[in-house]
Amino acid sequence: MSKPRILSGMRPTGRLHLGHLVGALENWVRLQDEYDSFFCIVDWHALTTNYENTGDIRASILDNAMDWLAAGLDPNRSTIFVQSQVKEHAELHLLLSMITPLGWLERVPTYKEQMNELTGRDLHTYGFLGYPLLQGADILIYRANVVPVGEDQVSHIELTREIARRFNNLYGAVLPEPQSLLTKVPKLPGTDGRKMSKSYGNAIALTEKPEIVKQTLKTMVTDPARIRRQDPGNPELCPVGDYHKIFSDEKRNTEVDQGCRSAGIGCIECKMWLFDSLQKTIGPIYERRQEIETRKGDVADILDQGAAKARIVAAETMVQVRDAMKI
Ligand code: TRP
Ligand code: SF4
Repeated sequence: MSKPRILSGMRPTGRLHLGHLVGALENWVRLQDEYDSFFCIVDWHALTTNYENTGDIRASILDNAMDWLAAGLDPNRSTIFVQSQVKEHAELHLLLSMITPLGWLERVPTYKEQMNELTGRDLHTYGFLGYPLLQGADILIYRANVVPVGEDQVSHIELTREIARRFNNLYGAVLPEPQSLLTKVPKLPGTDGRKMSKSYGNAIALTEKPEIVKQTLKTMVTDPARIRRQDPGNPELCPVGDYHKIFSDEKRNTEVDQGCRSAGIGCIECKMWLFDSLQKTIGPIYERRQEIETRKGDVADILDQGAAKARIVAAETMVQVRDAMKI
């Protein structure tokens, strides 16, 4: 029996950070043996909000692909590719746009949220409204059964299911309805305690130099109640404590909890423990990234081969879709 298929995607952005690792990549790496896996760098989606400033997209694609490989995605086990290299996504998006009621798109909660959040750009465009439909095309073109995503993307998968249902009712069943596979994302604030985001400058890049990681941890905010060394603190109220929960083992977490609450340890010591734990996870990723940097041409080849594999599946779907629509 063949494995169920997953597809997930990420927009090409500047350097990936720890949030991308714990929120998506680690999970993808784990899933890649259990599923027939497709992972896509969705550069057309980057255009929906950044159409005025496209200069960095190509560089980001290669950079993010190198981070994906460094984090452990394996081109021998997963199909890793760039959306714009598989033109079938655009054809399916166009055909699905014919049967997508505007109201469905206008009601997707991320539409209004993003519109309010991303001020300073004109997002009253056709492409921005259609963002979740393009995502639906990414998924349906591979007839993916499962889509690993964070909570914020669930409404997009729901829309995808509705579109598949509508297509199948109108033209006869062709497109399977995908399920979302919710990624449990642990609480990982930025170094200043706010949400981790590149635009806040509070993120730790996935492939940061160890010395810089150490420096950054030193400046990281802690429980505000620990003003002096002798003041007891609470790791539940401290971003450093949140990181220990993700990156340190149980023994270390017990030491942190006791040491912090009794003022037995100082914050600097606690942060150096965190540095050691963090290095266990990202140290090997950093090393692999250094190695991959020396063979960028191979990475471009991996993406080309990924696109060629993806295109075969996408082309099969399009034959069925065109037949069903008699087009
Ligand atoms: N919208 C997703 C995000 O912002 C990215 C994405 C595009 C995606 N196409 C996809 C995710 C298809 C899963 C499947 O995270
Ligand atoms: Fe945070 Fe650690 Fe300091 Fe406690 S000891 S406040 S957990 S950095």
